Amino acid sequence: MSTKIALGIDVGGSGIKGAPVDLETGQLLAERVRIDTPSPSTPQAVAQVCAEIATTFNLDSEVPVGVAIPAPVNNGHIPFMANLDQSWTGVDANEIMRDIMGRHVTVINDADAAGYAEARYGAARGVKGLVIATTLGTGIGSALIYNGVLIPCSELGHLEIDGYDAEKRAAASIRTLEKLDWPEWSERLQRYYETVEMLFSPSIFVVGGGVSRKHDKFLPLLKLRTPIVPAVLFNGAGIAGAAALAAADE
Ligand code: BGC
Repeated sequence: MSTKIALGIDVGGSGIKGAPVDLETGQLLAERVRIDTPSPSTPQAVAQVCAEIATTFNLDSEVPVGVAIPAPVNNGHIPFMANLDQSWTGVDANEIMRDIMGRHVTVINDADAAGYAEARYGAARGVKGLVIATTLGTGIGSALIYNGVLIPCSELGHLEIDGYDAEKRAAASIRTLEKLDWPEWSERLQRYYETVEMLFSPSIFVVGGGVSRKHDKFLPLLKLRTPIVPAVLFNGAGIAGAAALAAADE
């Protein structure tokens, strides 16, 4: 089915946000609706909130819905969950969302959604070869997009570097937790990005997540061969990418 509009919903640790998206441009067509992430953040409780968000926009029942979540998603199946309720592990998230929302829903990894949006509509639009998009937040998410095609579930935030799970050293949440100043945090980002660069030799890195608004404090401190640029879609990236990937899944 060819469609011009889809609903994108981005599930985060503290909030769930959604808006309808213009699939030509990636622009949000209405103000985002935000509802607190329920606690415990079980798949059923999250699906109820997603249903509530979908209802507020009064969309045609045919409009595809993409839901981005902070875990790898293999055709709806969740092999593990790092930062939401552990009951997500092993479930078919597409099925749960479809049952509770009563719509055709496609569940997607949050970084895959945001990275895909940056490659299609944002900072890496038109870049040939391999785009690696990363999100620096509670954890580190990653997306690999090769000539416009998403290679899902990359999970490069969990690379083991210097004996640590990378996101436990270099996520934005760790900067806050350990009260690291920008140069201290940048040293950890340097180790992270130089390792990913050595393994993949990408054409470009895109850096997203809320902290990317302050990119001038840390990106200039990184010494890499690969161009590294801030995301441009910010809060809208996960929503736009989830919508676009859901429409492609129809
Ligand atoms: C999860 C990823 C997710 C990233 C950002 C990681 O801990 O394993 O699936 O994309 O956090 O939310």
